Amino acid sequence: MTTSASTSAPVFGALSSDNSSNGGESGLIVARHLDYTVPVGSQSLKILNDVSLEVSPAEVLAIVGPSGSGKTSLLMLLAGLERPTGGDITLNGQSLSGLSEDGLAELRRQAVGIVFQSFNLVPSVSALDNVSLALEIARPDLKLSECRTLAREALEEVGLGHRLEHRPSALSGGEQQRVGLARAMAARPRLLLADEPTGNLDQETGARVIELMFSLARKHKTAIILITHDPVLAKRADRMLTLSKGTILPPGTGAA
Ligand SMILES: Nc1ncnc2c1ncn2[C@@H]1O[C@H](COP(=O)(O)OP(=O)(O)O)[C@@H](O)[C@H]1O
Ligand SMILES: [Mg+2]
Repeated sequence: MTTSASTSAPVFGALSSDNSSNGGESGLIVARHLDYTVPVGSQSLKILNDVSLEVSPAEVLAIVGPSGSGKTSLLMLLAGLERPTGGDITLNGQSLSGLSEDGLAELRRQAVGIVFQSFNLVPSVSALDNVSLALEIARPDLKLSECRTLAREALEEVGLGHRLEHRPSALSGGEQQRVGLARAMAARPRLLLADEPTGNLDQETGARVIELMFSLARKHKTAIILITHDPVLAKRADRMLTLSKGTILPPGTGAA
């Protein structure tokens, strides 16, 4: 829609000199000048202020920042789960602002996997069913038997081939998050969004989950936006951005 020449704030991305195609954007996901304000009683609270970023295909971006800086809100916008009050996001060359709720859900199903801090597994069904149910929703073109085969493969890929019939409560935290990872990756999204995925795990287990996430992403050429409090994990990403009070700090000025 617009070119970078007309922007008023810097876009801290990997492709800033190569955005001539695809309507001016060549990143897998490009966010420009996002504002996010929510009503609180009779007032309004500005959570994000002029946030711009872009992530290339297969790139791993870490976002760090103190609690309350707006990281989860940013991830919700990038996932199309909430709409920004200003600015725009393009995913796979498609502007999210022009999409209906159904259109957003469809794009999300096709292109995005999400891993949550609290795993968000369905407690009453097995690991296999958790992954298979997500695939049935993401890939209505597949038969049930195909979904189950892919779900089994996704769980084997995260080392849980021997835990297919276990319910989440019978799995350790690290195992539950590996189910979460298998579920997020089973439909082969181009973008994986992870919001403090190691926040409920001890450091060693968390590091192993991240290692697995990075190696799966490399194998399947999936881009990752990883929100983390852990500077050691963040430094393992290709690039790191720091969010502070709803604004992205210029490179080199952040903590961590
Ligand atoms: N829907 C909402 N209504 C009101 N305040 C919110 C809402 N969502 C987030 N906030 C506030 O916005 C700020 C940023 O929240 P959040 O994005 O969760 O930050 P982080 O993930 O970095 O901890 C916090 O002060 C939080 O309380
Ligand atoms: Mg958060």
